[in-house]
Amino acid sequence: MFKKKLFFIMLTIVLVGCAHTNDPIEAKIDELLSRMTLQEKIGQMNQLTGTGLSKDMISQIKSGKVGSILNELDLKTTNELQRKAVKESRLGIPLLFARDVIHGFKTIFPIPLGQAATWNTQLIESGARVAALEATSTGIRWTFAPMIDIARDPRWGRIAESCGEDPYLTSQMGVAMIKGFQGKNLSDPTSLAACAKHFAGYGATESGKDYNTTWIPEVQLRDVYLPPFKMAVDAGVATFMCSFNDINGVPSSGNEFLNRQILRKEWNYSGILVSDWASIDQMIKHGVCNDLKDATQKAVKAGVDMDMMSYAYINHIEELVKSGVISEKQIDESVRNILRLKYRLGLFDHPYTKEPANMPFYTEESLEKAKQTAIESAVLLKNDRNLLPLNEAVKSVAVIGPLSDSPADQLGTWCFDAEPSHSVTPLAAIQNLYGSKVKVIAEKGLTYSRDMNAQGIAKAVLAARKADVVLLFVGEESQLSGEAHCRADISLPGAQSALLTALKNTGKPVVMVVMAGRPLTIGKEVSEADAVLYAFHGGTMAGPALADLIFGKAVPSGKLPVTLPRMVGQVPIYYAHKMTGRPADKMTMIDKIPVGANQTSLGNTSYHLDAGDGPLFPFGFGLSYTAFHYSGVKISKNSISQGQSITVSCEITNTGKFDAAEVAQFYVRDLVASLARPVKELKGFQKISLKAGETRTINFTLNTEQLAFYNTDMINRAEPGDFQAWISTDSQSGKPATFKLL
Ligand code: NOJ
Repeated sequence: MFKKKLFFIMLTIVLVGCAHTNDPIEAKIDELLSRMTLQEKIGQMNQLTGTGLSKDMISQIKSGKVGSILNELDLKTTNELQRKAVKESRLGIPLLFARDVIHGFKTIFPIPLGQAATWNTQLIESGARVAALEATSTGIRWTFAPMIDIARDPRWGRIAESCGEDPYLTSQMGVAMIKGFQGKNLSDPTSLAACAKHFAGYGATESGKDYNTTWIPEVQLRDVYLPPFKMAVDAGVATFMCSFNDINGVPSSGNEFLNRQILRKEWNYSGILVSDWASIDQMIKHGVCNDLKDATQKAVKAGVDMDMMSYAYINHIEELVKSGVISEKQIDESVRNILRLKYRLGLFDHPYTKEPANMPFYTEESLEKAKQTAIESAVLLKNDRNLLPLNEAVKSVAVIGPLSDSPADQLGTWCFDAEPSHSVTPLAAIQNLYGSKVKVIAEKGLTYSRDMNAQGIAKAVLAARKADVVLLFVGEESQLSGEAHCRADISLPGAQSALLTALKNTGKPVVMVVMAGRPLTIGKEVSEADAVLYAFHGGTMAGPALADLIFGKAVPSGKLPVTLPRMVGQVPIYYAHKMTGRPADKMTMIDKIPVGANQTSLGNTSYHLDAGDGPLFPFGFGLSYTAFHYSGVKISKNSISQGQSITVSCEITNTGKFDAAEVAQFYVRDLVASLARPVKELKGFQKISLKAGETRTINFTLNTEQLAFYNTDMINRAEPGDFQAWISTDSQSGKPATFKLL
C-alpha cells in the first residue's frame, strides 16, 4: 500500500516537473531569472507612480529598479519610458503600465453597483471590453478592477465600486468584467490584465468607515467574502490586490493565511499579488510592524509580489536577503509571477503601443453600449397609477433637481480619465430626444446635492406649476461616494428632500430619479413621489438612458444588487441574514407604545422600535412597466443524494402590455443544519426577454456542491436534510418548493 502511494507521489512530481519545463514561458523565465542580479529581481517587484519623463524615473528604469508604473497615460510618454527599459536597461525587461480603469476609461459606464443592477453578464463583459480597447490604446496593460468586495454597508463609500451584497451575483459580475478586460487572449494588444481586489474582507469595515478594521470569523470569510475571489481565480484573473484593512488583527499585506495558505496553496493561484497603495508601509500605523524593514519582511513572507508605492522592497529586501532573514528563493517566486504576466501579455515581443490613426474613444458603438447598460441599471421602485412611461397626454415637463444637468456628477466615482464634456445629462437628452414632443421647462432648484438654498426651491416650484409632470433628478454628487468618501447619514443631502416636498405640494405628479453612489435612506421621499427610478451614477450616457425610460422607448429591467434600508441604524441589513430565535412578530412601533408600558409587554421579538423589521426595498427588487406572473415552482425529484443534481423550474408569463425583460432569481434555504444558515441564498438567475402575453418555462440546475457551506471544522460540504427552493422576481416574494438531501 505504502509503495503504491509512493509511486504515485513520485509520478506526480515527475509530471509536474515536466509540465513546468515544457511550458515555453516557464523555460524563458528560468533562463531570464538565471541572469538576473538580486537588485534586478527586486526592481521587478517595485511599482511606482508615473512622473512623466523625469530624470529620476528614467535613471531608475535604466538601472532596473522599476517593474511597473501606474498612472502614466500619455502614449508618447509610455512608449518612451518603455524604450528606456527595453533598450537601455541591462536586461531589457519591459515595464508594465497600470491604471484604475474601473467603470470605463473615456466612455464611462454606470458605477459597478449600477452595473450589477443590470444582472446582465454579457452586457457587463462587453462594457469591460470597451474600457480595455480605450485604455490599451494609451499603453496601459493592467487595470486594478474588478473590485469584488462584498459590501453590506451603504455608509461605506466604496460600495459604489462594488457589485453589492451578494457573493453569487458579485462572482458572476466579477467574472464578466474579468473576461471583458482580459479578452480572449492576454497577448492580444487590446487585452488588459484584470485585478481581483481587495483581498480580502475590505467591505466588512467597521461602521462603514473606509480602511477600518474588520473582524470576520473564518466560516463567514469563506462563505461570504471569498467566493467571488475564488471564482476570479477559476476565471483566470491575472492579478490580485491586497486590501488596506486588517482582518482579525492581521493587515492583508502581511497576511500569510490569506495570501499563502488560501490564495496560493488552496486555490493554486500563479498570478501577481500586488499590495495596495503604500499598504506595506501602513502596517507600521496598524501597529503590527516596527519600521519599514519589518513591514518588508512581513509582506514578503506573506507572499506579496509587488510593492505599490511603499518604497519598502526597493530599500529593504536586499539587506533582508543578505542577512538570511528572507531567502532568495522567496524573491524568485515573486519575480516569476511578475515575469510570467509580462510574457503572457506579449510585452517581451511587442513592448510598444502603436499609435492608432484615431484614438478609439467614444465610438458610436461604445456609447450605445454605455447607454444600454445605463438603461438596464435603473431600478423602478414605484410607479403609482402607471405614471411612467409618460403618455401623450403629457404636453410639458419640468426638469428639476441638482442631478438633472450635472455632467461630472453623473459619471460617479473612479473616472480619472473621463471628460465631463462628453456626458449627456438628463436635461440635454430630454430636450434633444423628446423636446419636439413635450415642452421642457428647466429649473435646477438646487445647484448641487448639498445645496440648502430655499430661493432655488421657490423657483423650482414656479416651474413645476407650469408643467404637467415634474421630473426631479436628485441624489449625490460624485464626490460623496468612492474611496475614503463615507457617510454616517445616508439620507438625501442638502435641501433635496424639502425640494421634493415643495414640488409635491404643487399637486403635480412627481417622478423622482435618484442618481447616487450608494443605497440612500429615502423612505419619506418614496412615499411622496408618484414614481421612483433608482439610477445610481449612470455614466456618460445616463441622460439618454433615463430619457428613454421616462418616455417609454425603453422598459426598466434593473433589480437591486443591494438592500435599501429604511434607516441607517438598520445597517448592516441584507437579505441573506440568519434567523434569530425570536423572529419579528406583532411589532409595536415607538409611537404606539403606551406610556408606562410594562417592559415585556411588547412581545420580545427581533425588530427596531422605530424602523420595524425588514428593508425599504429588498435585494433583487425592481418593477417593470409590465407585470410578470410566476407559476408554482416544480422540482424534478423530491430527494437527492450527494453528488447529484435536480432541476428546479417554473413558468413566467408577461401579463402586461409591454415587451420587457425580467430577471428570474433562484434562491434556496437549508432549513436545519449544524450551523444556522441564511434565510435565503441566491444560487442562480436568468435575465429573459418576454413579449407581452408570452409564457416561458425556465429551468435551474442545482447540484449538491451548491448547497455546501463551511462548518466549524472548516469542512465545506452539504449537510443532509430539508431544503426550500424559490424562483421569484425578488428576494422576498414567491412560494418555495421543498426537497430533501439524503
Ligand atoms: C488605492 C485603492 O484602494 C485601490 O483600489 C487602487 O487600485 C489603488 N489605490 C491604485 O490607485
